[in-house]
Amino acid sequence: MIYITRKEHFNAAHKLHRPDWSEEKNAEVFGKCSNPNWHGHNYEIFVTVKGEPAEETGFVIDLKFLSKLIKERVIDKLDHKNINIDVDFMAGKMASTEILAIAIWDQLETEINEKGCYLHCVKLYETENNFVEYFGGK
Ligand code: NI
Repeated sequence: MIYITRKEHFNAAHKLHRPDWSEEKNAEVFGKCSNPNWHGHNYEIFVTVKGEPAEETGFVIDLKFLSKLIKERVIDKLDHKNINIDVDFMAGKMASTEILAIAIWDQLETEINEKGCYLHCVKLYETENNFVEYFGGK
């Protein structure tokens, strides 16, 4: 088994806010990310696929296919958008890095598996210092 990773980048706005909580509690729990007038992050995403190299190509997955898939299913939907409002696959969800990474996994998994390899990890950096890794499952 060998692992191959494609890195992509997007900029997006969000806020973390629960309407069923008071402003004070939102500010206490979510800090700067609860700012009512939104704020942005420069996200970095690393999508790792695992599998065996194909005999004819030596590839686990064609990186042209993988980058096009990530662009169409993830980047085009998120880049320069408001995650809370504009992004169909985040509708009704908390716009945290954790939930976003899980939703991105769900955007990609089926089509990667159809290529005879496996989605291994979605690593998502919200800031230089804060990132999450999702390996599927619960
Ligand atoms: Ni934030």
